[in-house]
Amino acid sequence: MILSKSIEEVLQTAKIEDVVREFVNLKRRGSNLIGLCPFHQEKTPSFNVSPSRNIYKCFGCGKGGDPANFLMEHEKLSFPEAIRWLADRYQIELEETQQSEEAREAQQQRDSLYILNQFAQEWYARQMWETDPGRSIALSYFKRRGFREDTIRAFGLGYAPQGRDTFTRAALEEGFPLEQLKALGLTTEKGYDFFRERVLFPIHHLSGKVAALAGRIMRKEAKAPKYINSKENEVYHKSKVLYGLWHARSAIRKADLCYLVEGYTDVISLHQSGIENTVASSGTSLTEGQTRLIGRFTPNLTILYDGDKAGIQAALRGLDIALEQNLNVKVVLLPEGEDPDSYLQRVGAQAFEDYLQEQARDFIFFKTEVLLEQSGGDPVRRAEVVREVVNSIGRIPDPIKRSVYLKTCARLLDFDEQLLVRELNQQVHKKLKDRHRQRERAAAPTETGTEQPEEPFAPQEAKPATGHSYQEKDIARILVCAGHLPYQDGEPTTVAEFLLSNIEETLNLFEVALYRHIAEVTLDRLKKKLPLSASFFLQHEDKAIRDFAISVQTSPHSYSENWEKRWDISLQTQKMPEHNFSKDSLLAMQRFKLKKVEQLCRENKDRVEALSKEDPEGELITYLHLQKKLLGIRNALAAELGTVVMR
Ligand code: CTP
Ligand code: MN
Repeated sequence: MILSKSIEEVLQTAKIEDVVREFVNLKRRGSNLIGLCPFHQEKTPSFNVSPSRNIYKCFGCGKGGDPANFLMEHEKLSFPEAIRWLADRYQIELEETQQSEEAREAQQQRDSLYILNQFAQEWYARQMWETDPGRSIALSYFKRRGFREDTIRAFGLGYAPQGRDTFTRAALEEGFPLEQLKALGLTTEKGYDFFRERVLFPIHHLSGKVAALAGRIMRKEAKAPKYINSKENEVYHKSKVLYGLWHARSAIRKADLCYLVEGYTDVISLHQSGIENTVASSGTSLTEGQTRLIGRFTPNLTILYDGDKAGIQAALRGLDIALEQNLNVKVVLLPEGEDPDSYLQRVGAQAFEDYLQEQARDFIFFKTEVLLEQSGGDPVRRAEVVREVVNSIGRIPDPIKRSVYLKTCARLLDFDEQLLVRELNQQVHKKLKDRHRQRERAAAPTETGTEQPEEPFAPQEAKPATGHSYQEKDIARILVCAGHLPYQDGEPTTVAEFLLSNIEETLNLFEVALYRHIAEVTLDRLKKKLPLSASFFLQHEDKAIRDFAISVQTSPHSYSENWEKRWDISLQTQKMPEHNFSKDSLLAMQRFKLKKVEQLCRENKDRVEALSKEDPEGELITYLHLQKKLLGIRNALAAELGTVVMR
C-alpha cells in the first residue's frame, strides 16, 4: 500500500493542466483552459480545466475531478495506479507498506506484462545495434530505406535474430516466467521465439508503454507473411491502438490535423521528414476505438491512400466509422504505385506536403465521385450510389454539416435535394426504429432497461437548491471549498472548526441528507485530528460527496453577482466571498441558524396554538416561554445579518 503521506505529496504536486494536456488539446480561456471533452462526444468545447482549483469539469457530461480522478476516468486506472502514474510523471518516490503476496501479484500482473514487453523491445534493439548480424541485416536495411539513426532509436526499432529460442532463453535467464512470454505471444506454445529473422517495430500505447511488437520479414520467402504481430492479450487490443500515436500526439494537437497511413514504415518516414502528425492503422480498416483516439486530439483526419484504385472502394465504406465520431474526413490518393513512404522519398518533404494540401478531398464528395464514376451512368446502380452516399451522410451527428453535404451531393449526383432529404429521413427513421426494437428486446427480460448509453448526454446542471436548503448547501460548500483554511488570517482556527463548533448541536436539523453528511464527515475528520483538504472531498468514497465537491469547486457563478441578490446583502469587502471565507462562513452559519430558528418558531407556534385549545398538563406556559426565547434569538440573528424580519 502506498503511504498516505506519499499520496498527499503526489496530489499536491500534480497539476491538472499537465495531466489533462497529455490527452486533450486545451486552449486558454481567461484563467481557465477549455477543450473538447474526452468523455463524451461534442463539437463545441465544454470541458473546463481550472489550474487554480486544480480540477477539471465537463459542463456537458458532468464528469470532473482532480488529476487522479482524470486518470482513473480517462485511462481506466485504479486510484493507486493513478497515483503511480503521477508519481512517475513528477519523479516522486513513493513510500509503501508491505503488501500481501496475492495482492501484489494481482496488482502487478498487468505491470509485469508491460515490463516484459519493455524488456523485449530493449533486447531486440540491442540485437540490432550490438551484434554483427543485427547491424549487417537489420540496421543496414533501415538505413537503406533512408531512416536516420536518431529516428531508428526514437521508434525503438530492433532485430529478432535467427535461432529458435535465442530471445526466449535470454528472457528466462532474466527471470521472466515462460507463461508470461507465452501470454504476450513472444514465445510460441512450443517454447520457440515468435519473432525470428525479422526487423521489429514496437507498438506503443498512448501512455508510452510498449503494447506489442510487429515484425517485418527479412528473407524473401513467399510463404511467410510479410508482417506478424505479437498476439492480442491483456495489455494489447489491436483495435484500440494506433501505431505512432504516442510519437505523434503533440504534433497532431499542434497541427489540429491527423494523417492516417497504412504502414509502420510510412509513419516513420513521414515523422523523420517533419510530418510528425501521422499515425497508422497497421493494415486493418479503421476501428471505432481508433477514431475515438484520434478524435481526442483533433476533429480533422486526412487519410492517405496508396495509389492503386482497386482497394479504394472497399476502404471508403470503412470510413463511415470516422464520420460517426464527427471527424472531418479527407482523403488523399497518392500517385499510382506509390505508398506514402516511397512517394515522400522520391519527391522530398516540401513537394510531398504540397501534394497533400492540394490533393486532400472531402471524403464524402470523393466517395460520391468514385462511386458515380463506377456506376457508369447505369440508372439502377446510380440509385445505389445515392443510397450509399446518403447512408454516409446520415452517420454525421451534426445536422448542419449533414444539410451542407446533402446540398452539395445533390448537385454532384444531379439529384433533387428534397429527394435526398427524404431518403435520409427514411434511413434515419429506420435506424431509430431498429435501435428502439433492439432496446426493447434488451430491456424485456429484466426490469432495468433504463440506461440509454447511446443517446447523447443532455447538459446536466445540478438541481438548484430550494429555499429551504440554500443555507445547508452553503455550509456544505464552504466546508468543502474552504474548510481547511484559517478562519482569520494568521489564526490557527480553521473555517471548518469555526462553523462546526457553532452548529454541531444542530446538525440533526439539516434537511438535506447530503449536506448533513458532509458536515458530519468533516466533524469526524476534525475530531480525529486529521487534515482537511479539497482533495479529501474530491477523493471521498461516497460518490455523492465527490460529485458535490466537484460541482461547488467548478461553478464560480453560483455566487458572484447572484450571491448579493440571493442573500439581499451588499458585500462590503473588496474581496469576493469565495476569497473571504471568514465572512462567508460567518454569514452562512448565521443564515443557517436563522433559518432553523425560524422553523423552530413556526413549529412551536403551531404547538402553542394547539395547546391553547386544550391543555390538560399545563404545558402551554412552557412553550410560550420557549416561543419568546426563540423570537429573541431570531431577532438577534436577524439584526446581525442586517435583514428585516418578516412577519
Ligand atoms: N500489413 C500487415 N501484414 C501484412 C502486410 C501488411 O499487417 N502481411 C500492414 C502493416 O502494418 C504494414 C501495412 O499493412 O505496415 C502496409 O503494408 P505494406 O504496404 O505491404 O508494407 P509497408 O509498411 O509499406 O512496408 P514496406 O515498405 O517495408 O514494404
Ligand atoms: Mn512501403
